[in-house]
Amino acid sequence: MVYVTRRETFSASHRLYNPQFSDAKNVELFDKCANPNGHGHNYVLEVTVAGNPEQDTGYVIDLKDLKELVRREIIQKVDHKHLNHDVDFLEGVIPTSENIARAFWEILQPNIRGARLFSIRLRETENNAVEYRGEKS
Ligand code: NI
Repeated sequence: MVYVTRRETFSASHRLYNPQFSDAKNVELFDKCANPNGHGHNYVLEVTVAGNPEQDTGYVIDLKDLKELVRREIIQKVDHKHLNHDVDFLEGVIPTSENIARAFWEILQPNIRGARLFSIRLRETENNAVEYRGEKS
């Protein structure tokens, strides 16, 4: 099995806030991430697919195809957007990296041909990243 990764970046703003809770409770839970007008991140997205290289090409997946898929289905929809307000597939979702990564998985997974989606890794800061591999616990 060979693992192939495409990296893309995007910039977006978000606010961590659960409307079911009071403002005080939200500040307790999310601290400055609950600031009313949001804040931004330069996200790094790594999409990894797994498979066996094809006999004819030596590729697990054509990285040009993977790049175009990720840009079309994800990056164009989130780059320079406010994740709480501008992105239809994140409506009603608290836009933590965990939830964003899972939403990206749901979009990409059915669209990967010839290989299988292995992981979505989303880096929000230098120090913080999440990885989703599709298993529901
Ligand atoms: Ni944040």
